[in-house]
Amino acid sequence: MTDLLAVILAAGKGTRMKSALPKVLHSIGGKPMVEHVLNAAQTAGAKRKVVVVGFGAESVETTLGTQAEYVIQAEQLGTGHAVMQAGDLLQGFDGTVMVLCGDTPLLRGQTLTKLVAEHQALQASATVLTACMTDPTGYGRVIRDDNGQILKIVEQKDATSSELAVNEVNTGIYCFDRAALFDALRSINCNNMQGEYYLTDVIDILVKSQGKAKVYAVQVDDVEETLGINSRMHLAEAEKILRRRKLVSLMDNGVTIMDIDSTFIDDQVCIEPDTVIYPFTWIEGATTIGRGSAIGPNSRIQNSSIGENTTLHFTYAHDCQIGNGVTVGPYVHLRPNTVLADGVKIGNFVEVKNSQVGTGSKIPHLSYIGDTDMGEKVNIGSGTITVNYDGKKKHRTILEDGAFIGCNTNLVAPVTVGKGAYVAAGSTITKDVPSDALGVARARQSNIEGWVNRK
Ligand code: UD1
Ligand code: CA
Repeated sequence: MTDLLAVILAAGKGTRMKSALPKVLHSIGGKPMVEHVLNAAQTAGAKRKVVVVGFGAESVETTLGTQAEYVIQAEQLGTGHAVMQAGDLLQGFDGTVMVLCGDTPLLRGQTLTKLVAEHQALQASATVLTACMTDPTGYGRVIRDDNGQILKIVEQKDATSSELAVNEVNTGIYCFDRAALFDALRSINCNNMQGEYYLTDVIDILVKSQGKAKVYAVQVDDVEETLGINSRMHLAEAEKILRRRKLVSLMDNGVTIMDIDSTFIDDQVCIEPDTVIYPFTWIEGATTIGRGSAIGPNSRIQNSSIGENTTLHFTYAHDCQIGNGVTVGPYVHLRPNTVLADGVKIGNFVEVKNSQVGTGSKIPHLSYIGDTDMGEKVNIGSGTITVNYDGKKKHRTILEDGAFIGCNTNLVAPVTVGKGAYVAAGSTITKDVPSDALGVARARQSNIEGWVNRK
């Protein structure tokens, strides 16, 4: 098989986004849009991905890192000029160059796979992916001869009225033979309405130099995939389409989504079958959820792993690890580095941060547990607070297996409550409580008889 390489054009500013952020870095489905394009190229088998950067070059490179190689287009003189910038880097590459745009995040890998296969089977010099649109305004038009053979692409601004009537457009996605592409690029100029070096002019040049039999235009099956993002409105529309795709694929794999209109799940999230997602739920980042769990309603889960048969309702959890058979909620905040072992129960109005909670332990109501190592079968009474911060440093609280903490307790860290020990309700514990002891730290009650009558 011929080697495949992708050049992704991403030097433009994206003026209509009205943003300080380069257009291609705007996020869709939890990922910068250009990353979706890189992934599609990867799926199609591109061994190397070269991104042409210009506006905001540094932030594009920092964001994408080692996922791609980069060439700079200092001035945006047109799409042809952009591709030329990759010329030196591609010297000696003998294969197919796929040219893509960084602003088409809906493009599927399988669509590119098909395009590459056709291009290589035809041994073409160039193959253009085209789309038929009811409203082709703004796009380059695909001009074919009477036999349906492509002759050239004409930009909207340079087109005659008969050319404007054509509704087959250039999607901006192509495959080229490397040598043919860079030879043809040497002949392009900027004598056109926009004064730009058009990549599209390469088609006309190759038809003339190599013959019609070497240049092809193939139509995409699903026009939606080639939509380019130019505005915040397009961004919202694309988000909706990607989101729906993700939900459909989850449902196809056995996940129940109660309400597809109010469920937001990022592309990279993995969910096992027979889990139910209730309405108004966001599941984001590198999150995995096991079988038979129930998430939502009204929950937001980010970068967390969640086990099987676990329930999270009205919960915000980020950067957490949650085991099997855990119940959480309602109104719970699980902050980074919270690890809940199997069978843990977290009830209403509880916040947990940077803490381990052992198997079968319970924090049923109104508590703050921070920087704590909690053993198995610990019971935390309502209103318990770990006093983990002295104004300068954070300190840890250790609650050993089977410890029983009475209601409304302050545990002033660093402090340890030993195995099986009890803490009396209302205590402010500042010293360790040994195993099997009772820690009491509160004023004794005294009743003043007849006080009300004397008042
Ligand atoms: C281009 C095509 C048009 C096609 C349309 C599909 C040309 C001349 N026209 O038009 O036929 O229908 O895409 O969306 O190619 N870019 C650079 N450097 C530049 C100019 C552009 O990197 O100097 C990048 C942009 O960031 C963008 C992509 O190339 O990602 C396309 O550029 P854009 O200006 O949007 O091209 P169109 O005018 O839409
Ligand atoms: Ca465009």
